[in-house]
Amino acid sequence: MNRLNASGVDGAETSPTRIVSRETDAAPFDARQAWAANRLWMETANLKTRRWGGKRPHHWYALLAATRAFDWVLRAARQHERGYRNACDLVVRDLDHALERLPPAFDGFSILHLSDLHLDGMPELVDIILDGLGDRTFDLCVLTGDYRTELHGPIAEVMRSLRRLVAGLHPRLGTLGILGNHDDCHMVAPLEEMGVRMLLNESVAIERSGSQILLVGTDDVHYYYTDQALHALERAAGAPFSIALVHSPELFDVASRMGFDLYLCGHTHGGQICLPGGIPIITHLSRGRRYFRGVWQHRSMRGVTHCGIGTSGIPVRFNTRGEILIHHLRAPA
Ligand SMILES: [Fe+2]
Repeated sequence: MNRLNASGVDGAETSPTRIVSRETDAAPFDARQAWAANRLWMETANLKTRRWGGKRPHHWYALLAATRAFDWVLRAARQHERGYRNACDLVVRDLDHALERLPPAFDGFSILHLSDLHLDGMPELVDIILDGLGDRTFDLCVLTGDYRTELHGPIAEVMRSLRRLVAGLHPRLGTLGILGNHDDCHMVAPLEEMGVRMLLNESVAIERSGSQILLVGTDDVHYYYTDQALHALERAAGAPFSIALVHSPELFDVASRMGFDLYLCGHTHGGQICLPGGIPIITHLSRGRRYFRGVWQHRSMRGVTHCGIGTSGIPVRFNTRGEILIHHLRAPA
């Protein structure tokens, strides 16, 4: 089986854990080419496609105008600076997940989970993340999309910030990434050049001591839904243990039906600007609104909706906190 060293670390010599190929290496080249052609068409036409059919223009620019007006109100009320301080105040959270079907060899497997970085809005978050993590180490890092805030336009600056971030993380098996609704298809190549293995409706298996776990990553389904995202999840049905990486919680029902054990996502920022008590005003979800934040359970599948790291629209948070998550997988005793 073909072996990959996403991090450049020769895991086979020093550790019994390794990433092995599943379908991405075997997939014909034109699968990615077809994905890129379709994604580029949707981006260029400025259309969002929905799971239950229909295409309509992005509402993002109308929302952006509203948030800019709100930005002015915050400044006039002298609350902007407080909101910005809140947005810089990231918390590192360790989450233990007791997972019934986790192979014993993966007990204690750790995953650093970063989501919704939006680094064009707040590039200073790179240093805040790296300072927050210090010298902590992890088995794997996953990035669940939204690397920038703008939907279109140049990416060089945000890729520069990302490169600095990725270079400062040292997960033993490397980093996996998916795209969010703010990301465009031109980001895939630079992300892969910096060592992030992108999953575009694809999967990888990780092997440890003869056992395997499967990770499936889909393209964003909030703006850029295609049936290929569903098919990627469907192909995992019957896997002994599987983790879904999806930008938003909006495929929770499909993943649960396909027998996924863990579903990692983000997109909502936990509401970003909430009423007291963390009550969200907007979740940006068409489906799965009850899973807009934190740890949740849907039938036998555990899910985690990351509160996000960065901010969207304006660089403030109220009654929510940005977070860096570290998932610890626990096998039954
Ligand atoms: Fe998003």
